[in-house]
Amino acid sequence: MNLPFFSKEDLVVGVDIGSHAVKVCQLKRTDKAYAVVNLGSVTLPEGAVDDGTLNEPDIVGEKISELFKQLKIKKKKIGFSISGYSVIVKKVNLAVMSDEELEEHIQTEAEQYIPFDLDDVYLDFQDLKTNEGDDDRTDVMLVAAKQEIVDEYLEMFEGLNLKPVIVDVDGFALENTYEYNYPKNENVALVDIGASKMNINIISEGVSVVARDIVVGSQQLTEQIQSAFDLTIEEAEALKLGQIPAEEKQQEIEEIFSTTCTQWVLEIKKAIDLYQANHTEAPLSRLVLSGGGSKVVGLLEYLESETGLAVELFNPFSNMTVNSKKIDPDYLNSIGPEMAIATGIAIRPSVI
Ligand SMILES: Nc1ncnc2c1ncn2[C@@H]1O[C@H](COP(=O)(O)OP(=O)(O)OP(=O)(O)O)[C@@H](O)[C@H]1O
Ligand SMILES: [Mg+2]
Repeated sequence: MNLPFFSKEDLVVGVDIGSHAVKVCQLKRTDKAYAVVNLGSVTLPEGAVDDGTLNEPDIVGEKISELFKQLKIKKKKIGFSISGYSVIVKKVNLAVMSDEELEEHIQTEAEQYIPFDLDDVYLDFQDLKTNEGDDDRTDVMLVAAKQEIVDEYLEMFEGLNLKPVIVDVDGFALENTYEYNYPKNENVALVDIGASKMNINIISEGVSVVARDIVVGSQQLTEQIQSAFDLTIEEAEALKLGQIPAEEKQQEIEEIFSTTCTQWVLEIKKAIDLYQANHTEAPLSRLVLSGGGSKVVGLLEYLESETGLAVELFNPFSNMTVNSKKIDPDYLNSIGPEMAIATGIAIRPSVI
């Protein structure tokens, strides 16, 4: 597989700060592929991060620091990704123009696409170059992120003596990992189910055509188990993960799983139906599931029967080499689906 050429490429450590856990992934380049150098995760206290907002930067910072120490990561350059209400990703169709003209056009016209005050956002864009032949219009991906939210992250990292050089978006990072590891030119639905949100990203001919965040996730299961049996959140989480036996609670837990997963699957089907209706000539060939919520027992099979698609768990390392003496293959397998976003950030070369 050909990698993009960077003469002195320096990869960042990918840091994915979710509402449940921080995931960290460090890669290095070898001649032919990426190699996994280091990876791990640490659970965050309830509420420390919510809908992409750092509510408790000191606590999250401490956890990240502990994780870097435990993994013995010396590297300072990191990349992180954002998601949630504070980031808007929008595809707009514009007349073909040069990068300079596009920059100017976007600076003056972005107001009509972005529901935030432009003085308060970081704005970025990418020409997807979708025009072909005589077509003089192209799709442009716009990203606007609230400065105060991004700045909280930047400050936290700087306080840890880390150097944030890449700010990614969860959905893009996921796409990045997919593109590196899986066959090109397939039409695919990427679905990341975390603790508190589900990101659906449908890629058709290498371009993201449906992208949405929905406020559902595996934390719903924990909360419902907690209230059904009057438990602490920790007990409910352990029960959910099967770390303590369910015994007489089994049937009710199964019902909670089934109702909630039905809701997730309906949302996924809605996005797929929207895609299929507009792209009858390019049917989806598979659905790739990531995030901790993807590990709910039976979800994959249920999703397969409801969508008629081949569904598989995301393996972000399928095209990478791994030193099995340093990283336990069983651990790598089990943590893989949660690591998809951190890996996508870690693939990005830092040009700074
Ligand atoms: N086997 C499992 N069954 C059900 N849920 C699971 C399983 N393993 C992990 N989870 C859940 O996955 C969630 C963590 O996944 P992940 O790390 O992807 O979330 P996050 O990135 O922190 O959250 P978000 O992206 O929504 O902010 C937790 O709610 C955890 O309980
Ligand atoms: Mg996540």
